[in-house]
Amino acid sequence: MKVKLVNDQVSRPTAESATKIHDVISHAPFRSKNGSAGAVTMSAHQVYKSYRAGSQLVPVLEGVSLQVRQGQFTTIVGQSGSGKSTLLHLLGTLDRPDQGEIVMNKQRIDNLPARERDRIRNQDIGLIFQFYHLLPELNVLENTLVPYMIRHGVWSYMRQRRRLHEQAKELLELVGLSHRLTHRPNQLSGGERQRTAIARALITRPKLLLADEPTGNLDARSGNEVLELLRQLGEQQALTVIMVTHDERIAQQSDQIIRLRDGKVVANAAEAA
Ligand SMILES: Nc1ncnc2c1ncn2[C@@H]1O[C@H](COP(=O)(O)OP(=O)(O)OP(=O)(O)O)[C@@H](O)[C@H]1O
Ligand SMILES: [Mg+2]
Repeated sequence: MKVKLVNDQVSRPTAESATKIHDVISHAPFRSKNGSAGAVTMSAHQVYKSYRAGSQLVPVLEGVSLQVRQGQFTTIVGQSGSGKSTLLHLLGTLDRPDQGEIVMNKQRIDNLPARERDRIRNQDIGLIFQFYHLLPELNVLENTLVPYMIRHGVWSYMRQRRRLHEQAKELLELVGLSHRLTHRPNQLSGGERQRTAIARALITRPKLLLADEPTGNLDARSGNEVLELLRQLGEQQALTVIMVTHDERIAQQSDQIIRLRDGKVVANAAEAA
């Protein structure tokens, strides 16, 4: 992985932060039950997706193929409306392709029953959405803990509440939100909502992070800090990151760029070191 800070002038909290985040998440008790803590790779094979708008069928993805290796930092770029979020949703098992296959860890996942796809998503994938998708009635701390509650159930959560809260607080401190723990989403700025979403995506210690413009609503400095955090996680935890971005400078520094145009991948360049 060779993603660097776009602006080298910003402070680099990362040596310390990364060690800390490593501690926070590596002490997390939750591991995949089947012991599949190893490599996560993802691939898409000739994926097609259309949406129906009234009587019209709008083709969005028309034969997209890609491959992402463990620990890689991959960026997806393309104009607004080119299908980046659509592709990320398919990779993240939130939606299914009309045709084609999505494979994760050598297992085809797009055709699994919804329940099984939910399990995979909750267990192995961290998702950061373009529009946050925070729960409005929960505060920052509670939103961060939602994936844990979904995975382990409320009783398990209640039993370990104190420890989990400490863990979530440490993550929130890392994304600079320790002063906003009890704020609800409508009491946060856009960047603060995005940072809450980032903490939420990391609480379950995923091996694969799918991020839809995670720095799009952050100022340059916060954006760089988030990138650096993801980079450090990639190196220390073999976290595989697939990130949508409009920022060509970020894309240029990633391991692989997937460029979408007219429903197809126009360049899938494995950038040389
Ligand atoms: N549920 C839907 N129903 C109909 N059309 C849709 C739906 N979701 C997305 N689209 C259309 O599919 C196309 C791709 O949308 P998508 O959100 O994937 O684009 P994007 O590349 O992420 O764009 P942006 O950079 O603006 O976020 C757009 O033209 C959009 O209008
Ligand atoms: Mg989008």
